[in-house]
Amino acid sequence: MSETKPTPENKPAGPTLSKMEKLVALCRRRGFIWQSSEIYGGINGFWDYGPLGTELKRNLKDAWWRDIVRCPGIGPDGKMIDMVGVDCTIIMNPKVWVASGHVGGFSDPMVDCRETKNRYRADHLLVCALNVLRKGERQALGVLAVLEGDTLVNDWLKRAEKLTKKSGGGEVQVPAAADFRKYTTLSPAEQATVIGPDTDKPGTLTEPRQFNLMFESHAGAVQDDSSKVYLRPETAQGIFANVRNVLDTSRVKVPFGIAQIGKAFRNEVTPRNFTFRSREFEQMEIEFFIHPSTAHEWYKFWRDTRFAWWQSIGLTSSHLQLREHDKDELAHYAKDGAGTSDIEYKFPFTDPGFGELEGVAHRTDFDLRQHAQHSGLNDKLKYFDQDLQVKLQGQGVPKDQIDQQCKYFPHVIEPSAGADRGTLALLCEAYNDDAARPSGVVMKFHPRMAPIKAGVFPLVNKDGMPEVAEKLFQELRQNYATDYDPKQSIGKRYARMDEAGTPYCFTVDGETLQNQTVTVRHRDTLLQERINISQVPAFLKERIG
Ligand code: GAP
Repeated sequence: MSETKPTPENKPAGPTLSKMEKLVALCRRRGFIWQSSEIYGGINGFWDYGPLGTELKRNLKDAWWRDIVRCPGIGPDGKMIDMVGVDCTIIMNPKVWVASGHVGGFSDPMVDCRETKNRYRADHLLVCALNVLRKGERQALGVLAVLEGDTLVNDWLKRAEKLTKKSGGGEVQVPAAADFRKYTTLSPAEQATVIGPDTDKPGTLTEPRQFNLMFESHAGAVQDDSSKVYLRPETAQGIFANVRNVLDTSRVKVPFGIAQIGKAFRNEVTPRNFTFRSREFEQMEIEFFIHPSTAHEWYKFWRDTRFAWWQSIGLTSSHLQLREHDKDELAHYAKDGAGTSDIEYKFPFTDPGFGELEGVAHRTDFDLRQHAQHSGLNDKLKYFDQDLQVKLQGQGVPKDQIDQQCKYFPHVIEPSAGADRGTLALLCEAYNDDAARPSGVVMKFHPRMAPIKAGVFPLVNKDGMPEVAEKLFQELRQNYATDYDPKQSIGKRYARMDEAGTPYCFTVDGETLQNQTVTVRHRDTLLQERINISQVPAFLKERIG
């Protein structure tokens, strides 16, 4: 089966394209995101970031690291939050993944098409009966499957019309979105009659079966079961495996958190929706260790803090929602916990629905207990709570009770966010069609997130202007990602900066040489004003920090 698929980024942007198609085209054209190994036709589920995308994603990760690890603020107990970072390997001892449950249970239901050899996530397939009118009579031509998505009905219709033409013509009865059923809700007998998404024949899809999402490899020269390793499917387990090391080498005490940003790999059956579901992606995860009795307050704290954080970097509140998981939706480790919530964003391909950006879960003490048992360290992985010991001693509690109560497996609140999904949400949020601008589009990034903070241009590339502009550029680039562009008309340069989402552009012109003022162009309002060239750094500091 070929893993490559044509994607919309090769199509020219135009008024008939959806917002997502236009955004994907802009990302390609301006160097935000490209298909990985594009010169060989790409590879499904893998994406590269170009110069602008790299700055954008870095700004997101840097803001997270600064706000979470370096300056996490005050917790619900009124005390300063303790947080440290780690940077663990992608390949770990495979026993980690047995303990975490990933070897046994990290799987999705998938079906194969015997005809095309394509593979699909069974829970992403939607089916609808194809009925046509022929000479005034209704005829059933089978049940057609398509992959869920924002173009569901259109995708289905295109296939329905092609099939109808092939089998003698007729008028296709157009279904509503509500007429589609999930493939997984069909009986095996019904599933056996479905026409798969890439074939014209019924009955080519296999029954759904579980497929483990972990990528496998081998460490060392011998390739057998003894050398089998996995690319980590989450960064969390590197943190759990190092809790003892962190406690032994730093001064953190419960409650405290360990944070990590890093790559994760999942062999997704159907990667799609641009970078939303990729096979290689980056996570920004916190494992926050607490006394079990404080789980509710810390869970609420992290859920609300993380929800507010996404707004602070520019996602509009009406595009965000907090969705509390129902009891039957909870992961095995969170069944007895204070809860699990998803922070969701209204992506163009989920609209009017929402897609997960970050999960906040009370994982109880599941992971630490599992690692204690599987590593054989048992009680040595427990935490000894000295603060509690002092408190209980003060209350005159007997020693044996103190020893028992003060040694425990801490519970964990886990806010786990995707850096690529976050970057995608920032891109979707920023994208604005604007026919009044030469580029026809403006990316309104929050200034903190903008890949380029300032553009510096000499109005013309002569008459002493480049020298002044270059000096300003050299000064600004010490602190801000700055673009210097001496060529083309000023309108074209502004258009380029609108597509890059640069909040401020400074133009050196004839007047600058006389009175040391430059023009500032504000991206969002298109306002132009003059300020003294010496004031430019302070102007940016005030607005960007
Ligand atoms: N340690 C918990 C954990 O990994 P998850 O909900 O599976 O939880 C956390 O993943 C976040 O990672 C998600 O909210 C999402 O932002 C991101 N993520 C998960 N799978 C992804 C994929 N295939 N492509 C891009 N991002 C993904």
